[in-house]
This record gives sequence, structure tokens and C-alpha cells, in this order.
Amino acid sequence: MCGIIGYVGREAATPILLAGLKRLEYRGYDSAGIAILHDGELSIRRSVGKLHNLETVLQDGSLQGSIGIGHTRWATHGRPSEQNAHPHRSGDIVLVHNGIIENFLTLKYRLESEGYRFESETDTEVIAHLIASIVRRGLKLEEAVRLVSQELHGSYAIAVMSVSEPGRIFVSRSGCPLVVGRNDHGTFLASDVTPLLAHTRDVTFLDDGDIGLLTESDIFILGPNGEAKPRQIVTIDWDAEAAEKGGFQDFMIKEIHEQPQVISDTLRGRFNYELGEADLPDLAMTNEELINARRIWIVACGTSWHSGLVGKYLFEEMLRRPVQVDIGSEFRYRQPMIQKDDLFIAISQSGETADTLAAAREAKRLGARVLAIVNVVGSTLAREADGVIFTRCGPEISVASTKAFTGQVVALYLLALHVGRVRNVLSPEEGRWWLDHFLMLPGHVEQVLKQEEAIKAVAAAYYEKRNFLYLGRGINYPIALEGALKLKEISYIHAEGYAAGEMKHGPIALIDEDMPVVVLSPKDRLYDKSVNNLMEVRARNAPVIAFVTEGDRQLDRLADYVLSIPEVHPLLTPILFAVELQLLAYHVAVMRGLDVDKPRNLAKSVTVE
Ligand code: M6R
Repeated sequence: MCGIIGYVGREAATPILLAGLKRLEYRGYDSAGIAILHDGELSIRRSVGKLHNLETVLQDGSLQGSIGIGHTRWATHGRPSEQNAHPHRSGDIVLVHNGIIENFLTLKYRLESEGYRFESETDTEVIAHLIASIVRRGLKLEEAVRLVSQELHGSYAIAVMSVSEPGRIFVSRSGCPLVVGRNDHGTFLASDVTPLLAHTRDVTFLDDGDIGLLTESDIFILGPNGEAKPRQIVTIDWDAEAAEKGGFQDFMIKEIHEQPQVISDTLRGRFNYELGEADLPDLAMTNEELINARRIWIVACGTSWHSGLVGKYLFEEMLRRPVQVDIGSEFRYRQPMIQKDDLFIAISQSGETADTLAAAREAKRLGARVLAIVNVVGSTLAREADGVIFTRCGPEISVASTKAFTGQVVALYLLALHVGRVRNVLSPEEGRWWLDHFLMLPGHVEQVLKQEEAIKAVAAAYYEKRNFLYLGRGINYPIALEGALKLKEISYIHAEGYAAGEMKHGPIALIDEDMPVVVLSPKDRLYDKSVNNLMEVRARNAPVIAFVTEGDRQLDRLADYVLSIPEVHPLLTPILFAVELQLLAYHVAVMRGLDVDKPRNLAKSVTVE
């Protein structure tokens, strides 16, 4: 949901800001813009569409200066247009904003009655005018930012400059991420750490209500009442290269291929093989607390919700523990019957998803222990949770989530093992058995990745179709949902994921020879039932793509295409099928000539409701 960036230092700001915006483009790409303050003059350039349009505009080299702010937009208030693109200016003030100002209409009417004229349809412009109106009364920019922050309802991270205070950028946040860092030629701000990695690995995440001041040589953090706060430095171990394409055509395909490594990294150092136990030091829950947890809840959105659903099947089958799984936006408003000492697991790649965060805060308010399974170190969710399991995926740039899903499922395996051992449901031998099989997963994913050419052939056969159906059962029902989500978000093909047994209750009416049906049919106790569903599809002349266990030849004559995964325990099949379906969606989207990493209307991190 929009990315903001800023630099003040001794180097030319424009290339630094553009390089940073490139890293943030996954957050939105409806328009982009930059403002530079140089020799007492503000210059702004904005353009609609992806960043390369702005780069073209800036090729004339007209934006010179070493202090500036930039923005890449995911439109909420007002269509994508140059007028609505950030930065927004009011007199001497210029700013960029990520988030949504919920009371913007009230503020706008008030400002209009005071004579301010609005040039955009955005909520952001009210912030610029509000700050300008306070500065006009003779107050300093810092005070103006603080006072305005108190008036804004909603979520925001802003970066503000003023002609009258050159050499300074003020930032403020509430509900949207903001990170700052410094090296020996200047200071930097951004919506996440990835743009900063090229300059420094020592960064500071602002808390809600904080105001930051960036000068050429230092960064100062002030609390909501103007009190100086020590700068908490977090060292990020992701390297800048991890945020590059590394020879792949797109980030998505690179991230798909990183999954064997993600599994190894997420498992590394997190178990004691002798004892057959998982070792999760950041869980921050005693064994007693885990044993006494009355209920387990998992809440997340999108792909992370699908990994949560996998977690439900896993916990219920492996541990015989009931688990309630919810979508963040539903949980937060439905007065959930969560109680003190329940275990609440929030899953999120970014750790900034507004609905997941709100759900976690509600759970905490009601007394639950909040455990975050999260990828981004220093994210709001990671900081607010009682305990955390980091997924160690490195930066996930592609809007379509792939490796983060795999990291989350691996984290859930570790958690299930931990709970199983603590509650004595699993013996040390059983624990070791599971560890052996977790450790084989990277090799199995490598094998799956070798099927890319075969999956490409399936994509070539069906990429022009308009509808797809994905069917799965048990722990692979969430994978049917995930496969359909992947396809629809990057290829714009309508796709439905269904529990295979539910097909006859409605969706079967959709099936004809023009609707490819993906059937997940591993050799498990539900195999015969999946085959029945496949026959029902076949009987209606739909093309069938079956995903089976290696060695299963039974479906060769029944399906148009058969792809396989290595033989593993049924509870370990979801990651393997998910990788195959990621590849299918990717190649379909590529064949349709689409921008895979930046699908239309989407943003990587959904920091608004
Ligand atoms: O950062 P999060 O994991 O909380 O994000 C949740 C969803 O927005 C995200 O998974 C989304 O569904 C992806 N675009 C799916 O590929």
C-alpha cells in the first residue's frame, strides 16, 4: 500500500530515491513521484504508472540536489493520475504518505472553509495543508508534524520537508511501517528495510506515535510528547543481493526457486535431534503455558491464511488439538470467543497487514498469548507479539507470495513438533522421525522444481482459458485454494479452489470442456475419493490436470496431464503441491504476457483495511 522513501546527505538524492523506489514498487505502482529540495527551491516530478515512467521523465537530469523524498502509489483515494500522485505540496511544505486518513473529509471541508484549495482527490493532501496551516502560524515543522499527527485518524507513515527548514526531513508514523538508517554520507528513510540494505544494515523501526528527524549526519527519534528517545538499532542480516533478481526473469520465479533454501534456513538451528524436539527460543511461552492453552487460534489473510488452514489440519491430525482458523478481517469484527491463556497464532509475511495486526491486538486485549509467524524482522507484528517464529525467507518482492507460504508451513511443522513433545503426544522417536522427514523436504522441493518444463507444457495447453477449478481434500484443500489464488492474482483468469467433496454441491454446474480442472490426488487415505471426484469431472468433458504421488500410474489414462510429487507422509504434501501450482500460475501468466511481479490492482503489503 504505497511506499515512501527519503534521503538527506551529501550525495545526489535522485538516483538514491529512484533505486529505493524500485525496491518498494511491490507496494504499489499506480504512480510514482519525487520531490527535491535544493538551493531553497522545491522541485517535484510525478508520473502515472510504473516507476520506469518517472525514470524516463527524470532522464533530463533536471532534479539536482541532495535532499529529497519519493513515493510509489497504490491508489485508495482518487484514481491513478498525475494529480493524485505524491509528493503533495502546500506552499513551502511537501510530503509523501503511506496509509489512509479516515477523517480526511472532515478535515478537507474545514480546510476548504479556511480557503485552502485542493488539487488532488487524495486524503494525503489534507496533511500537507494542515501542516502548512500550522507552520504559517509561526510554529516549527517538528511541532506542526506533532500537532497534525494528533488530528489524524487512520493509518499513516509520512515524510515531510519544508523550504524554510532545509537539510531536514521529518517522519512520523501510526499504523504503517517506517524504518530509518544512516551511513557516513547521509540518512535514509523507507517503508521497509529493502531500500536501506544498499546503504546500511543497522536500522531503526519507528514506533507508532514517534516522530523522527533526519539530518545529513544524524537521526533523532522523539516520542509523542517531544521527548528524546534512544535509537534502537536492529541489524538486518538479509543482504542487498537477496533483493535482486539474480539472473531470473522475474522475482516470482526466483522466489519459487529459493524454496529449498527457505526450508533449510527456517529449520536451521531450531531442533534438538537427540531429544526429537523443536527448539524455538523466541516463542516466549513456557511448557506449562503451552499445555494449559485452552484453545488454539490461527488468524491471517490471503496466502498466509492458507498456510494457517494447513496448520489446522496438521495440528488436528498430528496432535489431536482443535484449531480455529480465521481471516483477519472477519476475526477483528465478529466478537470472537477468545479467552485468557488461549494461544493465538498470527501469520504474516510482512508483519504489517492491517487486518492481521488488528486481530492480534484484539486477541492480546482479551488476554490471549500472541505468537507471530512472520518473515520481516522488526515488523509491527513481530514487535507487538508475545513470541515469534521468524520464517527466514529473505525479502519477498513479488506481490504473489510463494516462498513465504513455504516458510510459514515449515514454521508450523516446527511448532506442531514442539507442542507435540511438550504435551507428550509425540515420543522422542516420533519426534526424530518427523525431523528426519522435515529435513528431506528441501530435496523433495528440488525434485518438484525439476518438473518445471512439464508444468510449462500444461500452461501452454491452457493459458488462454478463462476459468479454472482447483480441487483438493484434507490438508490439500487449502492448497487448492492457494493454487486458485495464485492463478487469479497473476494471470487474471477466474479460478476457484474447492474442497473436492463439495464440488457436487454447486460448482459442478460450471464444468464443461472449456474449464480445466486441477485435481490434487496424493496417495493418502482419501485417494479413492479424489479419484471419484476426478471421474465426475471427466464425465463432464473437462480437461483434467492431476497432481499425484510419484509412481501412481492409475490416472495416466484418466487425466490429460499428470504431474507428480515425491512420496512423502500425507501431512508433508502441501508444500510440494503448492510449489507445482506456483509454477503453473507463473507460466500461465508469462504466456499471457503479463507483469508477473506486479499484478494489477494489488500491492504486496496491505496496510489498510
Ligand atoms: O504480509 P501478509 O502475509 O500478511 O499478507 C497477506 C496477504 O495480503 C498476502 O498473502 C496476499 O494474499 C498475497 N498477494 C498472495 O499471493
